[in-house]
Amino acid sequence: MISLYVPRLFLPAAGEFPASRGIDPGKHIRGIGIERMAIPDAHEDAATMAAMSLLKLRERNDLLPGEVERIYVGTESGVDEAKAMGTYIIGMLEKVFGRGSFQGCSTVELKSACIGATLALENLCCWAAQDEERTGIVVATDIARYPLRSPGEYTGGAGSISLLVKANPRLVALEDVWGAFTRDEDDFFRPLGQSTAVVNGKHSNLCYLKAMETAFASYRKRMLKQGVLSPGKGECLTDYISHLLFHIPYPRMVEYASAAVFRKDWTGLPRWMEIEKEIGAEPNPRDFDDEEGYQAEASKYEKSFSRTEMFQEAYQAKARDSTLISRQVGNIYTGSLYLGLASLMEKRRLDEGERLCFGSYGSGCSAMVFSGIVQQRDYSAGSIREQLEKRREISLQEYEALHQGEGEVSILAPAEEFALVGVDGRGYRHYEYIS
Ligand code: CAA
Repeated sequence: MISLYVPRLFLPAAGEFPASRGIDPGKHIRGIGIERMAIPDAHEDAATMAAMSLLKLRERNDLLPGEVERIYVGTESGVDEAKAMGTYIIGMLEKVFGRGSFQGCSTVELKSACIGATLALENLCCWAAQDEERTGIVVATDIARYPLRSPGEYTGGAGSISLLVKANPRLVALEDVWGAFTRDEDDFFRPLGQSTAVVNGKHSNLCYLKAMETAFASYRKRMLKQGVLSPGKGECLTDYISHLLFHIPYPRMVEYASAAVFRKDWTGLPRWMEIEKEIGAEPNPRDFDDEEGYQAEASKYEKSFSRTEMFQEAYQAKARDSTLISRQVGNIYTGSLYLGLASLMEKRRLDEGERLCFGSYGSGCSAMVFSGIVQQRDYSAGSIREQLEKRREISLQEYEALHQGEGEVSILAPAEEFALVGVDGRGYRHYEYIS
């Protein structure tokens, strides 16, 4: 099961925001695919958002505090260099459920850019598989914040997702085949002490696509080797996948990632001949004197492929709907991949027995591709639509003040939520549940 928490404030992607940056709003809405960016209020941080999504998950699953034995936190928005965020989160939950109510639970914070929550999930799945009584929770929580007026700014956002992990899940049973790719890159990183990331935008897109494509190839190899799937003549792996979900730094990236994966998966099949008839053969690196020239042609070819009818049909059928919530929230880093799952649930797009394929990406960089089978049709991710519709729009001025940490007073006074109420002289953070 899954639950989502999104801050109650948002900045529209059209209007004064793009106007003040000299950007055509069409770039935000159509080019990037974003309509609203979730903005945390002055009393929120990654830990309060995590505690909120956990609280929702507990309520929706009638979990008793003592039942939860593991809380693994995936985040790149840590609030302390040493103390695990999970201890702050447990401290908050115990304000509601009583001191010591979560003391039998272990917690760890996994930092691996946006892939942290997926690594937490892989670990917890192994642990949960050993005993069906075990209950663990993965919490993904992040604030995606880029410098004001930078090209990354409009790909910001904030939110938290909690995933319940059990040996016999009600929503999706993972197939325990993990494709992987890792390489040292300087695409996106945040040196110690800095509150916003250093981003090499175009390079980050290329790293993402290369990592995803290669992790998918590794997943395919392992799926075939382990005999989980054996596609027949003229078939490929994506024919057996009902929905492709990818890490979503911004919704348009899902289209680019889908193009990269389908293109590789279809190459060599009879259907690829039809593609070649339409757009010609792929550029061959041996025909180029330099890497740059080849890359430019390769990306032109990728664009032509993404305009073909065959690709557009596959994309609309298998990937596009996973971007529904991201359009309204923006990037939530580690949780973004799972926003895709919540989107499919919200759109009622999942059917029992369907295979979901997840493509997780973490800057720096690594990717993991894995899959799972939908267990039931009757599900709900909670009142997401209601949560999103109830939010308050903020002005550009309010957004910039919050961004710069100048807003000492919350725009919306905390109500029925966890709040950061102060940081003492030693740097220890104090949280309360405000009813
Ligand atoms: N109307 C419609 N579309 C428009 C438009 C308009 N007026 N103006 C531009 N566009 C289109 C462009 O044509 C382009 O689409 P195509 O790819 O189909 O051509 C699209 O809008 C984007 O435009 P640009 O490529 O010019 O965008 P940009 O270079 O200014 O910035 C970005 C894009 C690199 C993603 C930047 O926002 C950025 O640096 N973001 C942060 C880093 C990031 O998100 N990287 C993603 C991979 S890394 C990752 O996934 C980890 C993570 O979470 C950060």
